Amino acid sequence: MTNEDPTGELLADPYAVYDRLRETAPVHRVTGPDGLPVWLVTRYEDVRHGLADPRLSLDKRHSAPGGYRGLGLPPALDANLLNMDPPDHTRIRRLVSRAFTTRRIEELREPVRRIADDLLDAMAGDGRADLVAAYAAPLPITVICELLGVPPQSRRDFREWTDALLMPDPARPGRTGEAMAAVVGFFSELLAHKRARPDDDLLSALIAVREESGPDGTDRLSEDELMSLAFLILFAGYENTVQLIGNAALALLRHPGQLEALRADPGRIGAAVEEFFRYDGPALLALRRFPVEDMTIGGVTVPKGETVLLSLASANRDPGRFPEPGRLDLDRDTAGHVALGHGIHYCLGAPLARLETEVALTALLERFPKLALDVPEHELRRRPSTRARGLLELPVRY
Ligand code: HEM
Repeated sequence: MTNEDPTGELLADPYAVYDRLRETAPVHRVTGPDGLPVWLVTRYEDVRHGLADPRLSLDKRHSAPGGYRGLGLPPALDANLLNMDPPDHTRIRRLVSRAFTTRRIEELREPVRRIADDLLDAMAGDGRADLVAAYAAPLPITVICELLGVPPQSRRDFREWTDALLMPDPARPGRTGEAMAAVVGFFSELLAHKRARPDDDLLSALIAVREESGPDGTDRLSEDELMSLAFLILFAGYENTVQLIGNAALALLRHPGQLEALRADPGRIGAAVEEFFRYDGPALLALRRFPVEDMTIGGVTVPKGETVLLSLASANRDPGRFPEPGRLDLDRDTAGHVALGHGIHYCLGAPLARLETEVALTALLERFPKLALDVPEHELRRRPSTRARGLLELPVRY
């Protein structure tokens, strides 16, 4: 990896870069696009320990002065779990975690299957489609909107906003600010609507928690925290899942033997999804973290306040942990993969992400026995993002 353009090479072939770094420089200091130092950590043990190490803070106030600048989100979106340490993190996580238990989420299996079937019905007549636009994207967006209680008339393809926030385009400098304003406007309206007409959904439940809060600093959920939480759940709730469904479908189309084995024994879908997470999970990197003191990672001293990036994708391809890591093997033991993080910030939506991906792939394979790629593989294009690695399009015929 060059210091000048780490992201360029990473986007083109992240796994090749990570393979090299794990061997030669497992805790590697690079210069980020903004000219600031970033420590990239690539070995499984270091990444897994780092994820659960309380000395690595997610709170930007622990970044060195003049250091990390981040997305520059307004407070109404920024007061979210992924920028927080305990005790704030513990307080808020407890409030939402009840909605995301495996049992609660399992109740969604049939509704999710109906959403998948409707999308497949709409695709069926055409014989070919972009699987991302027609299926992988609308499915998680619809599911998370139903769960939160976003009314149908307010739904849209939120990908445009996420792309503007996560993949800033130097040619369109105003786009990120416009997207932020649009997102704040959207949630202000939505929360007002839900306050006026509460329903049996997650947003109404969170608003109720907010209204119960005391007026004198005993707030259980501040107004900024409420909106930030809604924002995080909506966006974290679909972006990665869209990419995982696309990446998993591509992995199957590239490995016809494993595709056939899965068709022959659909009961293996649960194990298969874990391997899709490990093999080509969308979150290449965990959220940036800041050491609250000088600390040693993998034998290297990392100064307090500098930015640490733990590579989940690299950890999941570490041959010290997963033998022949570059091979897709739906039967392998994937226990301990870190595609959904580890420790107190472990993905809140993990049961939902698993369920959606299982249902999406099962329904797709059942419906289209002749599913195949509709372009040569080298024409497929990836999104220019290390946050949610996925395909811009996945043209298929069936
Ligand atoms: C393929 C799908 C998904 C992947 C790969 C994924 C990945 C992750 C990862 C790696 C983290 C931890 C980040 C870190 O520690 O730096 C995380 C946290 C989180 N995820 Fe997911 N996620 C997925 C789906 C979802 C879904 C469906 C939801 C919500 C409905 C969700 C909500 C969250 C939230 C709220 C957090 C923050 C948890 C905390 O800080 O305590 N995610 N996710």
